[in-house]
Amino acid sequence: MASKKTHYVCSECGYESAKWYGRCPACNNWNCLVEESRVPQIPSALGGRTSLAVPAARAVPVGELSFSDEQRFGTGLSEFDRVLGGGLVGGSVVLIGGDPGIGKSTLLLQVCEYLGRGSRVLYISGEESPNQIKLRARRLGVASQNLLILTETDIDNILSAVEQEKPEIVIVDSIQTVHNEALSSIPGSVAQIRECTQRLTQVAKTRGIAFFLVGHVNKEGSIAGPKVLEHMVDAVLYFEGDNNLTYRILRAAKNRFGSTNEIGIFEMAENGLAEVENPSLMLLSGKPKNVSGTCAVSVMEGTRPIFAEVQALVAGVSYGNPRRTTSGVDYNRAAMLLAVLEKRAGYKLSACDAYINVIGGLRLTEPSSDLAVVLAVASSYKDVPIDDGLVAVGEVGLAGELRSVRGAESRILEAKRLGFARFILPWHSRPQKAIPGIELFPVKNIVEAINVILP
Ligand code: TYD
Ligand code: MG
Repeated sequence: MASKKTHYVCSECGYESAKWYGRCPACNNWNCLVEESRVPQIPSALGGRTSLAVPAARAVPVGELSFSDEQRFGTGLSEFDRVLGGGLVGGSVVLIGGDPGIGKSTLLLQVCEYLGRGSRVLYISGEESPNQIKLRARRLGVASQNLLILTETDIDNILSAVEQEKPEIVIVDSIQTVHNEALSSIPGSVAQIRECTQRLTQVAKTRGIAFFLVGHVNKEGSIAGPKVLEHMVDAVLYFEGDNNLTYRILRAAKNRFGSTNEIGIFEMAENGLAEVENPSLMLLSGKPKNVSGTCAVSVMEGTRPIFAEVQALVAGVSYGNPRRTTSGVDYNRAAMLLAVLEKRAGYKLSACDAYINVIGGLRLTEPSSDLAVVLAVASSYKDVPIDDGLVAVGEVGLAGELRSVRGAESRILEAKRLGFARFILPWHSRPQKAIPGIELFPVKNIVEAINVILP
């Protein structure tokens, strides 16, 4: 007879314990141990613990490993394929996380039309009724004969449907709604998510079926459920964006089959997500002319340079501590850049409020965007506009020196293509020969860079 056992599981790292602790002994986070009671599971026809017995593997020299080219499914959206590392790999499990309403279900249902041209696709929804899915599919123009829709949340029923329908691609929307009857904890709890993901992953590996799992994010912005969930899957993608703006960015946080540097940019339109082929044009559109405190910057997102606009507003403070607000730039990094500008170039910023913003909801994570922040602040402080056709790139060190950046040449060529006429870059990153059509300013420190914009 199944005996009931209670134990505690850490919702951050998945650590299990028979005792409750206020602080997880494994990851040291507070208040993250939750009670789980588990009834030993009845092995199911498919995917249950007993069906996992695989013959013992033999160790072989690496040279003798058999290798077959992985099968890749194109999604029909090249931005999505790029983030996946060149399409969805057969037998892989991809977790897609994002805020509610950001467009996860839309993105996945939309690619079903294209995927359905060559493969059988099963879309399992635990969140929407067949009616809602039909409405959305009609809006997106999805009508593929190879696309099957199932509204189901029980893991055993899901796995038997997979067994019966033999799809090549399965979409589970969302993993938090899937549950196992045999576990007493509620759907969405740590134990349920872990158990269900494990069983789906096993089916993916043993049957070579590719899975997309939709995951909700918690208020900290990470995928709800234990961190171990991210370890169990092959790729973790985040779909981000400002709910008030129409564009969305797909970013890989982990990818066993490709780079995590690539991003895909989409725009939410009337009939689904549209790819944004030239994000720089979109991000730079509306850049004000002859206004101080704005500077164009180029950041490398994977292999391609993307151009954006950094804005700064510096205003005199009358009382108390100066305010600093940043959006799209790391707060501490911006504070450091303001201090460097004060110490090395003599700008009295400790007596000013400073607001720094990146247009379009883009996050600048690359240090090569430092110089544009510094120049935008300097321009706002002096109230002198920066020439509209100028781009600045460079990492700023504490001595005010400019450190080299990667991909300088491809950034310059892209700047030229977008119509920029002047390019400030670190001395150490200057190209060996001149590039016709664009004026280069290799500079060694921020003072030299400021002299270019404020003659
Ligand atoms: P949805 O895909 O349901 O988001 P998630 O699954 O991440 O919670 O949300 C899509 C949002 O986008 C919804 O608010 C409506 C909007 N939308 C469009 O603007 N155009 C469309 O064609 C569709 C299908 C949705
Ligand atoms: Mg959804």
